[in-house]
Amino acid sequence: MGGRIGLASNLHPIQGCGGALVTKNRKKPRLDKLLTLAMQAARNSYSPYSKFRVGAALELTSGEIVTGTNVENVSFGLTICAERAALVRAVSQFGPKIRIAALAVTNLNGLASPPCGACRQMLAEFALPEAPVMFPAAGEMRTMAMSEMLPLGREMKLN
Ligand code: THU
Repeated sequence: MGGRIGLASNLHPIQGCGGALVTKNRKKPRLDKLLTLAMQAARNSYSPYSKFRVGAALELTSGEIVTGTNVENVSFGLTICAERAALVRAVSQFGPKIRIAALAVTNLNGLASPPCGACRQMLAEFALPEAPVMFPAAGEMRTMAMSEMLPLGREMKLN
């Protein structure tokens, strides 16, 4: 991390980023950064029942990054996942016009945790269909487009 990567024209050293190189093609570094922030967010997890500590980081099209963690409740059904916690935080902070450009989810338990169905539906409301979603799958980190995670996620029309 942070080592010199090369002289490709899309690489620009950014001041204040610990010497790391940031690329114009932001896909890879952006997801790496989101993953790190998701991991940090998971440290705040309130999960006394499952002990499953999850973190999520959303990058908005504005460039803002918003994180969230899971918050459990003794009435299990009221538990809020990390992804939805981040989402409601993002809307609360930046308003209803936000769009999610990318997101990463992780957990501190070293287990697979793709976003649950409820989270996919909530995320699809605000995510670009092409937004990459990174999550721990069996034995590896996996990245899929939002539209692949939830086909037809935005087809429902109320008017
Ligand atoms: N959880 C999340 O926060 N996100 C996921 O993607 C999977 C599940 C939480 C909910 C609950 O607190 C715990 O993980 C176990 O399901």
